Amino acid sequence: MWRSSGRLPALLLPRCCFALRRKGGDGLFTGRSNGSRLKVAEALLDTTAKGQEIRVQNLPFKIKERHSLEYVRQFPHLRCKTNIFSSLLRIRSEASTAIHSFFKSNGFVHIHTPIITSNDCEGAGELFQIEPASKIAEKRDNTHFFDVPSFLTVSGQLHLEVMTGAFTQVYAFGPTFRAENSQTRRHLAEFYMVEAELAFTESLKDIMEVMETLFKITTSHILSNCPDDVELFHNTVAPGQKERMEQMLKNSFQVLSYTEAIDILQQSTETFKFEPKWGCDLQTEHENCLVRHCGNIPVFVVNYPYDIKPFYARDNQDHPQHTVAAVDLLVPGVGELCGGSLREERLDLLKSRLEEHGLKDTYHWYEELRQFGSVPHGGFGLGFERYLQCILGVENIKDVIPFPRFSHSCLL
Ligand code: 4AD
Ligand code: MG
Repeated sequence: MWRSSGRLPALLLPRCCFALRRKGGDGLFTGRSNGSRLKVAEALLDTTAKGQEIRVQNLPFKIKERHSLEYVRQFPHLRCKTNIFSSLLRIRSEASTAIHSFFKSNGFVHIHTPIITSNDCEGAGELFQIEPASKIAEKRDNTHFFDVPSFLTVSGQLHLEVMTGAFTQVYAFGPTFRAENSQTRRHLAEFYMVEAELAFTESLKDIMEVMETLFKITTSHILSNCPDDVELFHNTVAPGQKERMEQMLKNSFQVLSYTEAIDILQQSTETFKFEPKWGCDLQTEHENCLVRHCGNIPVFVVNYPYDIKPFYARDNQDHPQHTVAAVDLLVPGVGELCGGSLREERLDLLKSRLEEHGLKDTYHWYEELRQFGSVPHGGFGLGFERYLQCILGVENIKDVIPFPRFSHSCLL
């Protein structure tokens, strides 16, 4: 409990992290001073009694030194005491408030999509399977706790699609899990995803408009609600980021078709590790090149090849280059920030797609959504940590989440 009162003693601490302990007692109290007088909380009143002392403890962070984000990352239990990481946490909290208020003021209903799911084939990422620990330890039979294999969610999309049968606009914002066996600077095994689903969509433009407005309104909210915290990042972590962010906010996001994107990449003078070819997924190096090509303004890439997108993406029925109405938003410094699509609402097309993928039985309920009254709809997912990386100019995704989880690391 932190409650100050005029009668409490004051300590003079430099702008630093501190830890106070009552002599001979328990209860460590820690915090961050602003460089001015610090009122000692009521919880610490006893510290001033006779025979008590207040000690500033040694932390692995030096007061007058600037430590890199990489250095403080080694101390997930302590880094919230550094000024940079506490700024990050305040920005993260503000961003999350802004996202909820954006959806609320635009008439979206917030849905708590499940964390445990039996959807195993969506194809969004490698799954973590769930069973009781005792069952795993005993290596007992192959029955399942839920009778069917169950997993941590890789996306709430399909559950949101269910809800578009009842509400015009819905969203979810929660933890998402992918057993990515990679240690890249933009992948986590547990991350937060913002997902929106809209009924009565006319075209991909409807979804792109929500993505762009969400990005701009959330960013403006953060800038007005925690300017000092943002400035600290822009000054110390990513010089030049302030101007880059202003560019993103004041310009309209660009739009390229996947086919145009491949042409641009093939004509580029840059050397790529993966050759850009029509029909192949865009790699991070390709995404970054496209963003640079568009003057470091976020860019939507639309209409991807039919064969590389999941079964639910709406068929554009074009040829010879067969595409689906899918869209990715690529942003400076990060690459893919959002992925979305129109969903295939035409029952015959959906049925044949599910058959092609061998998913007919598993997704019988999904077919029924179309059978029992469906409308054109679509949506997208935005990676919350990648969003924070993009606006703050943070190189590594592990530095924008309180407790990062990635392959070979689950500290605390
Ligand atoms: O592009 P993704 O895989 O899209 C979906 O899951 C859709 N079902 C969402 C929808 O339409 N409702 O993921 C969405 C975003 C990505 O663009 C990326 O920003 C982020 O989620 N993301 C990750 N962020 C951190 N670590 C990972 N391992 C991520 N995988 C995806
Ligand atoms: Mg994607």
